[in-house]
Amino acid sequence: MAKEAEPTPGSGDADAVRRSTKSDWQLLRSLWPYVRPYRYWLLSALLATAITGVLGLGFPWILGTLVDSALDPSNGDLSRSAVILIAIFAGQAIFTSIRIRTLAYAGQHVVNNVRSALFNRMVRFPIAFLDARTSGALSSRLISDAAFVYGSASGAAPQIVYSGITVIGGAILILIIDPVLALLVLVAVPIAAFIASHYGQRMRKLSRGYQNGLATTNALAQESLSGARVVKWFGAEREVARIYHRRLQGVIEQGLQRARLKARWTPTMMFLASVTIVAVLWFGGSQVQSGTLTAGELVSFLLYSRFVADGLATIVDQYSRLAQGLGASERVIALLDEPTEEVVGGNSEDRNIIQPQQRNGHVELEQVSFTYPGRDALILDNVSFAIEPGSTVALVGPSGAGKSTIAQLIARLYDPQQGTIKVDGVDVRDQSLEDLRQSMGVVPQDAPLLSGTVADNIRLGQPDASREQVAEAAKAANAFDFINGFPYGFGTKVGE
Ligand SMILES: Nc1ncnc2c1ncn2[C@@H]1O[C@H](COP(=O)(O)OP(=O)(O)OP(=O)(O)O)[C@@H](O)[C@H]1O
Ligand SMILES: [Mg+2]
Repeated sequence: MAKEAEPTPGSGDADAVRRSTKSDWQLLRSLWPYVRPYRYWLLSALLATAITGVLGLGFPWILGTLVDSALDPSNGDLSRSAVILIAIFAGQAIFTSIRIRTLAYAGQHVVNNVRSALFNRMVRFPIAFLDARTSGALSSRLISDAAFVYGSASGAAPQIVYSGITVIGGAILILIIDPVLALLVLVAVPIAAFIASHYGQRMRKLSRGYQNGLATTNALAQESLSGARVVKWFGAEREVARIYHRRLQGVIEQGLQRARLKARWTPTMMFLASVTIVAVLWFGGSQVQSGTLTAGELVSFLLYSRFVADGLATIVDQYSRLAQGLGASERVIALLDEPTEEVVGGNSEDRNIIQPQQRNGHVELEQVSFTYPGRDALILDNVSFAIEPGSTVALVGPSGAGKSTIAQLIARLYDPQQGTIKVDGVDVRDQSLEDLRQSMGVVPQDAPLLSGTVADNIRLGQPDASREQVAEAAKAANAFDFINGFPYGFGTKVGE
């Protein structure tokens, strides 16, 4: 029977990154480099899953012989059947444990490698790309989408393999036990599975609406609480509470709609399943009476029918989880394929990197015009000037004049639409980005701290700096005494 639908991953901000147009096969190929090192682990997991499935199929058969022996000792040894049953369950327990371990090992490593690769890529994206996206949308690629890929690979895929084995094996075995009775089951079960999948789809749609409704309601609550000052200044407490209540009402309606659908379908499906069981018992029972079927065979038959029905329901249910995982991996892959700064900037294939003869800090702008990507305002209009090595130059102007913009252009966070910028005699577009930025020092207007210690933050641009160098840098910035005043000094934790 269909289970409660889960929320869709990354819904709401799915447009944050363009959707790739890859087929499922191409998607799997793109993920393969991350999966490859763990392929034997995955293969073991698959084998362990298959073995538990096959062992599971032995259970109804042996149970049937046990029932027949119980009714008539001449049918075989009761204790032999019992021992075999225990062996089957022990085997299942062992291989289930192996499956869980191998899958977790491979899955955790694969998802971590994907996350690392993704993050490594993200920090290299052009500023213009990052400007156009919320950090929330991007970090949800790292966290929830990557987790969905993991969930579908480690949860849905093995369940589908297991259920596939029990469905096919169960169908074959009931055909062997009683072909006529088997046809009854094999017609009824797929119909039920079809109805269940239809119900599942409608349920998921309603659940999505419910989740989205809750998310917008929650956004309002978050904004009102983090912007509590504004709410109080404007005396808007009553108004935001009223809007919150109204949005909640909308959510309740969707929640109730979901419950009504469930109230209709769940009992109907349960009733239909029970009727099928009664029909099997009825016809099967009469065959037991006439001696064409043993009681044990009827028991086996009933259990195998259950295997087929449950297995099909699981496949239908888990297939949508697998699809969600594929959707999530599509978003992840699309980001992995997104070009980085170096490529966008154009010093990849067509331009050769030119190393300046010497780094002395000569800066020159020639007729530079610049507009922020996606904006209209011309921020810099035909700007030219040169800064000689060793000189101290201040750019002065009203707020918004474009001073910080010029600094960003020199460090090539953006490229101007017109004109050229040369540092140490070489066009910045011809230089290695890393080398160019390494040659500069920057004190930003707002200096965000990354989470870590004070020393970690000072070392950011030069990770192998010694303690003495860190202290020197702090002294040069007149911050040494200030930092030493903290209880933990340079080891003080900062950031969010
Ligand atoms: N990432 C961005 N996207 C779009 N427009 C931007 C962006 N950053 C700055 N601007 C706009 O470009 C103009 C110049 O900004 P800039 O930060 O260079 O000014 P500034 O001279 O440094 O000002 P201040 O003295 O306040 O630091 C402003 O109108 C600003 O709104
Ligand atoms: Mg500025």
